[in-house]
Amino acid sequence: MMRIGFIKKSLRKIDVRFQLVLLNLLVFGSLTYYIIEIGYHYPAVFKHSQWLKESPSRLVYSLGSRVYLSKVTRLPKIQYDFLLNETAEEKHLRESRRDSIKNGFLHAWNGYTRYAWGYDELLPLTHVGRNNFNGWGATIIDALDTLWIMDLKEEFNRSRDFVRSVDFTKSNEEINVFETIIRYLGGLLSAYELSNDLVFLEKAQELGNALLPSFDSPTGLPYNWWNLTWGINKKSHELSGPPCPPMRLCGSKMSILAQIGTMQLEFMKLSQLTGDSRFFFKVQDVIDTLDNAEKHIPGLYPLEIDQDSAEFLGSHVSFGPLGDSFYEYLLKVYVFVGGAIDQYRRMYIESVESMRKYLIKEGKVRNRSELLFLGELFNDIFSGKMCHLACFVPGMLAIGAKILDRPEDLEIAIKLAETCYWSYNVTLTGLGPEEFWFLTSTDELSQNEIDWLEKQEEMNNLPNGLVRISPTYLLRPETLESLFILYRITGDKKYQERGWKIWQAIEKWCKTPTAYSGLKDVNTKQVEMNNIMESFFFAETLKYLYLLFSPPDVISLDTYVFNTEAHPLFRMIKP
Ligand SMILES: *[C@@H]1O[C@H](CO)[C@@H](O)[C@H](O)[C@H]1NC(C)=O
Ligand SMILES: *[C@@H]1O[C@H](CO)[C@@H](O)[C@H](O)[C@H]1NC(C)=O
Ligand SMILES: *[C@@H]1O[C@H](CO)[C@@H](O)[C@H](O)[C@H]1NC(C)=O
Ligand SMILES: *[C@@H]1O[C@H](CO)[C@@H](O)[C@H](O)[C@H]1NC(C)=O
Ligand SMILES: *[C@@H]1O[C@H](CO)[C@@H](O)[C@H](O)[C@H]1NC(C)=O
Repeated sequence: MMRIGFIKKSLRKIDVRFQLVLLNLLVFGSLTYYIIEIGYHYPAVFKHSQWLKESPSRLVYSLGSRVYLSKVTRLPKIQYDFLLNETAEEKHLRESRRDSIKNGFLHAWNGYTRYAWGYDELLPLTHVGRNNFNGWGATIIDALDTLWIMDLKEEFNRSRDFVRSVDFTKSNEEINVFETIIRYLGGLLSAYELSNDLVFLEKAQELGNALLPSFDSPTGLPYNWWNLTWGINKKSHELSGPPCPPMRLCGSKMSILAQIGTMQLEFMKLSQLTGDSRFFFKVQDVIDTLDNAEKHIPGLYPLEIDQDSAEFLGSHVSFGPLGDSFYEYLLKVYVFVGGAIDQYRRMYIESVESMRKYLIKEGKVRNRSELLFLGELFNDIFSGKMCHLACFVPGMLAIGAKILDRPEDLEIAIKLAETCYWSYNVTLTGLGPEEFWFLTSTDELSQNEIDWLEKQEEMNNLPNGLVRISPTYLLRPETLESLFILYRITGDKKYQERGWKIWQAIEKWCKTPTAYSGLKDVNTKQVEMNNIMESFFFAETLKYLYLLFSPPDVISLDTYVFNTEAHPLFRMIKP
C-alpha cells in the first residue's frame, strides 16, 4: 500500500518536479515521462482532464498531478447476479411503477420550475421559493443527475444553462461548507461524469477553489460555516442542522464529525478530474487528524471536535445525525480508490466492529423479537434512540459486507433494514418517524413502568416496543436508500415491494397541488404538512425509488459510488 502520510510530508518540502520523480520511484519504481510532464504543468487543469479523456487507463490512478495511487484494484463485485429473465408481466409492473415515480418527480419539478425557479427550494403548500442553501438554486443542482438518469434531457439542458449563470464564489448567506459540498459540489461532479459536459467541471472547480480557504483553521479542520467574501463570520456559528440533533451546538471552535468527515469523496474526485491535488490534501489531512485523535473506544468517534486542538469534545457517539456520513465515507472512499488507501479499510472495520459490539441491540417488540436497533452512546452509556438518518447504515453494512468479505455484516444489514421498514409500517400513515426511542430486550421493567408504557402506547398510538417518537417525516431518503442497496445486493424482490409501499404512502399523504411536502406527524389521522420540500427529495428519495425499479445495470453499484446526497460518481476502476 502507498503510504500517503509519508509521501504527503515529503511533497511539501520538495519542489514539484522532484516530487514527481520521487513519487515515480516510490510508487512505480521507474520514471515515466508523461507524469513529469503533467505534473510540471500543474495546475494545468483542463489540459489534465483532456488528457484523462484521451487515455483514461493511465490517469485513473491519479488524484491530481501530485498524487498517484498504486494498487488500485477491482474490488469484489457488489451486485447480485441478476438473471434477465423477467416475464412480460413482471416487466410491465416494474415499468409502470417506475413511470409512477418519474411522474411524481415531474409533478414536483414542474411546481418548482413554475413557482420557484432559481430559488433553493419551493415551499410546496404556499407555492413560493425560498433561499436557504446559499441561493444558488439548490434544487436544480441537486436534481441534475436525477434528470439525466430519468432521461429528462430538455429539463437537464435548461438546468445546465442555469448552472452556467451561477457565481459560486459569492453568496448573500454564510454558507455551510458540508451542505455546500454534498449538495452542490456532489451534484456538479456527478452531472459532469454522466453528461461529459465541461461546464459542470468548470463550475465544480470554481466552487472547490472558493471553498479551499475554509480549511485554513489552526488544525486544518474546515470551518462549519463560511463567509465567502470575508472569511469566517464572527457573528454566528450556531449549527442549525436538521431538527434531529440532540442539542444545539454553538461556537466557532467546534467541528462536527459528519461535517468534516463528509467531503473526502467529492474533493478527491475533484482532484482526479481537475489535476489539482490540493483538494485531496485538504480532506486527507482531516481524516489523518481524526485517525490520530484519541478515542475512548476504538472506531467510535465523538461528534464534536475542538478545532484548535483537534481533540474530541464530550463523548456522544452516534451513527445518526452529526456522525452518520463520516462512517459512510470511510467505506466509500475505499471503494472509490479501489482499495488503494488501506487506512480507510482499517478505520471502517474498526468502527463497524465497535458499532456491532456497543450500539446494536435486540429490541423488545412483541412478536418481532428479532428486530435489531441501532442506538447511541452518551458518556459511554447506551441510549436507546434511533434516528431516521441512521437508516443509511443497512446499506453501508451491505456494501461493506461484499467489498470486504464480511458476510455477518450483511445479516445485520438485513435485520436493521427490517427495523427501518418496520418503523414505517407501524405508523398510521405508513411513513417513518424522524426519531424513535426503543426498549432493548435486556431492559428490565417494573410493573409500574410496564403499566405506564402501555398507557403511553395507547394514548399516542405508539407501536409496541417504542417509548416515544418524534413524529415528523421530512421526505427523507435513508430507508429507501437501504432498500435499494439491499435489492441490488441480494436480488430479493421484497425490497421492491417495500419501496413501492413507501412510495404509495408518499403519494397519499405528501402530495400537494404543486409538489410534495414533509409531514408534521406520521402517526395521526389528522395529517398536516410542514410546507417543506428539501432538495434531497429530488437528489435522493426519488432517485433511489426510480433506481429500485430500473434494470440493475442502470447506475450499477459496481461502477459507481454514491456520495451521501445520492450523487453517483465513477469509481477509479470501472468493471
Ligand atoms: C428466473 O430464473 C431464476 C433462476 O433460474 C428463477 O428462480 C426465477 O423463478 C426465474 N424467473 C422467471 C420469471 O422465470
Ligand atoms: C441538450 O443539449 C445537448 C448539448 O447541447 C444537445 O446535443 C441536445 O440535443 C439537447 N437536448 C435537448 C432535448 O434539448
Ligand atoms: C460577510 O462578512 C462581512 C464582513 O463581516 C459582512 O459585511 C457580510 O454581511 C457577511 N456576509 C454574510 C453572508 O454573512
Ligand atoms: C403476538 O403476540 C401476542 C401475545 O403477545 C399474541 O396474542 C398474538 O397472537 C401474536 N400475534 C402473532 C401474529 O404472532
Ligand atoms: C404493514 O404491513 C402489513 C403486512 O404487509 C400490511 O398489511 C399493512 O397494511 C402495513 N401497514 C402500513 C401502515 O403500511
